[in-house]
Amino acid sequence: MDALIAVLAGDGIGAEVTAEAVRALEKIGLRFAHRFVFESALVGGAAIDASGDPLPPATLSLARRADAVLLGAVGGPKWSDPHASVRPEQGLLKLRKELGLFANLRPVVPHPAVLEASPIKSELLRGVDIMVVRELTGGLYFGKKTRTATGASDLCEYSVTEIERVVRLAAGLARGRRKKLTSVDKANVLETSRLWRMTVDRIMPGEFPDVTFEHMLVDSAAMHLLHRPRDFDVIVTENMFGDILTDEASVLAGSLGLLPSASLGGGTRGGVFEPIHGSAPDIAGRGIANPYAAILSAAMLLRYSLRLETEAKAVEKAVHQAIASGALTADISAAAKPLTTRAAADAVLTAL
Ligand code: IPM
Ligand code: MN
Repeated sequence: MDALIAVLAGDGIGAEVTAEAVRALEKIGLRFAHRFVFESALVGGAAIDASGDPLPPATLSLARRADAVLLGAVGGPKWSDPHASVRPEQGLLKLRKELGLFANLRPVVPHPAVLEASPIKSELLRGVDIMVVRELTGGLYFGKKTRTATGASDLCEYSVTEIERVVRLAAGLARGRRKKLTSVDKANVLETSRLWRMTVDRIMPGEFPDVTFEHMLVDSAAMHLLHRPRDFDVIVTENMFGDILTDEASVLAGSLGLLPSASLGGGTRGGVFEPIHGSAPDIAGRGIANPYAAILSAAMLLRYSLRLETEAKAVEKAVHQAIASGALTADISAAAKPLTTRAAADAVLTAL
């Protein structure tokens, strides 16, 4: 197949890890005879530096034209002044909103070879396989914001339609897995959560009678996620809760550097694929970042945007083998000399 892939490396370690994801995709292209064309553009702080705009029009139009977007990370101390009126993160949020990417899939599957990289007891981690579906274009992130010298506010809003579409997508995923959906909210306090809960209660029994569902308050979910992670199959939740719970869930996998994500809209084409980790300014430019989250995001790109399941599985298997063979970067390695970003990615390419 022919496919145009937009590469938006962004800031910090974004460039280092996306370069490795591109190499993995090139290798897949060779092996399976696909023509992937890569086109790069600026986003985030890098784009602010170049043009003052964290999502320049050229970047957005490339993202719209592309069959899929591979993204690195945005942000960094250089652009974090609370007085600043433009921020790198606005570029990412606008991209998600403009492309209508309302569902963010974040799989959490601890690799058996690096269970010790997690502070959680290994016996609790064995068999954990969670898919978190985070609502991505609503809630606190996109509500009206105000700030004066004496106060500030962020409005949290959800419409029934916004809740329905992400819950349906999550329930559909659960149907293809262990058929269990946990909807996470804060219905004891928030009106948006009460609407969320009512909507789940309405949709699930009628449309997904084969999927068991439960409600869980977010504070309680934060605890159960570490105490009994095996009990979760698909989790669906609103934007901010999903952001927080998935950083927490990365502790189960041993490192943020291992978790990929797929941001999807209603259609079959398009989508943004990015590691859930940030730009990690503390280690940027040193070639030591973990490339696996970016490479696994490329696998999700193959699966969800290009519909190349065999190729997606090949990439995932290669990363699995690389980790099993001990190709570990500093974040997951106990060795005195952990692998560099390039060397870890090379292990994946060899396996491919
Ligand atoms: C993520 C990131 C972003 C988010 C930031 C960079 C805006 O933390 O993708 O999880 O909060 O969505
Ligand atoms: Mn986050």
